[in-house]
Amino acid sequence: MTPFRVGIAGCGTVGSGVVKLLKENASLIEKRIGRKIEIAFVADRDTEKVRKLGIPADKTYNDGLKALSAECDAVVELIGGTTVAKRLIEEALKRKKHVVTANKALLADFGRDLFFLARENGVSLKFEASVGGGIPVIKALREGLVGNRIKAVYGILNGTTNYILTEMTEKGIDFETALKEAQRLGYAEADPTLDVEGFDAAHKIAVLSSLAFCRWVKTENVYVKGISDLTPLDIEIAKEEFGYVVKLLAISKVTDGNLEVRVHPTMIPEDHILASVNGVFNACLIEGDFVGETLYYGKGAGEKPTASAVVSDIIDLALGNSYSVPECLFKEEELKISEPDEFISSFYLRFTALDRPGVLARIGEVLARYNISIRMALQKGRQIKGAVPVVMTTHPARKREVQKAIEEIDKLDVIVKPTFVCMIEEL
Ligand code: HSE
Repeated sequence: MTPFRVGIAGCGTVGSGVVKLLKENASLIEKRIGRKIEIAFVADRDTEKVRKLGIPADKTYNDGLKALSAECDAVVELIGGTTVAKRLIEEALKRKKHVVTANKALLADFGRDLFFLARENGVSLKFEASVGGGIPVIKALREGLVGNRIKAVYGILNGTTNYILTEMTEKGIDFETALKEAQRLGYAEADPTLDVEGFDAAHKIAVLSSLAFCRWVKTENVYVKGISDLTPLDIEIAKEEFGYVVKLLAISKVTDGNLEVRVHPTMIPEDHILASVNGVFNACLIEGDFVGETLYYGKGAGEKPTASAVVSDIIDLALGNSYSVPECLFKEEELKISEPDEFISSFYLRFTALDRPGVLARIGEVLARYNISIRMALQKGRQIKGAVPVVMTTHPARKREVQKAIEEIDKLDVIVKPTFVCMIEEL
């Protein structure tokens, strides 16, 4: 069989990992699949990086678009971002080359157009590395679970925030301190916004939701809230008093016939398996109607795990498996996406209130008027003159009503700070 020729555009952490994997495990891969994978080119602005990986000069380019003139069967886009990367993917697809990408931001926002373009040109766009790094979660949805109606997807899809939350939980430190430590260790970017404000996880759950629920989901369809206003106090109270662990959970599920897609700090039972996913690890729980619950766990980022996922796509293509996204995605969209106001959830509420008789009753009166039922309530500490945390968990309530009640409660003269609110998922 002729070798399968692959060009790599972008030779950063993941690109280098792909080159190394294809070289180190070349004979193993050939033995397994009965076909050789050949590197047709590697392109990067910094050609020195490419040279250091042992790629010959005639296969080295300083521009991915120029490299497309080289003979190849597939192009791997590892440039990142949504401008140059998009142009490169479009151009490669138009030239009838398969494309492999790890670019979740691009897929979440422009996936629909790119998959249509791939289809028009009779080639495939593969994206295993876009979610969960080395965990084969895309393959699980696309292949292993393909016969199931998916009921829900719950993911810890961002290693940076999971590391920060783990540190805050285990050491009782605040967000800023944990973030600095994550940056020192190289787990968080100098500008950590994309990770800590939940956008990276939002891109990933948008991609998973499109596969799982036969409806294109874009980042703008995802309700997103990050972890930067979480305090060690809430993490401690959640655990000590209510038995919950806080995770930045990406959730996608059908409720009342509508799709809810959301990413936010979520309190989950401490004995649930997702609660023990710590540090930079990712995990994804997918529930299908026939299979029940399935769980995927592993490293969600880094040179080697991400390269492992990229190479699995290259091998799929070399074997002639070009199935990429479900057919139904090319038809009309049916499933409606819920507005955040409509979410129904249990809530954790922490009021900062003056320590006076009657305060609980006044808060309770507002909650009752909005039909919000209190499950548990407690006060932490005693302050003759100052304020104390008064904490409650609720039975399931609509987010709209909870928001309105909190707005009213925060105007009471006994409340001294805006109330902290966190959704609870009993899983
Ligand atoms: N920044 C991501 C994370 C990895 O922290 O998980 C890349 O998707």
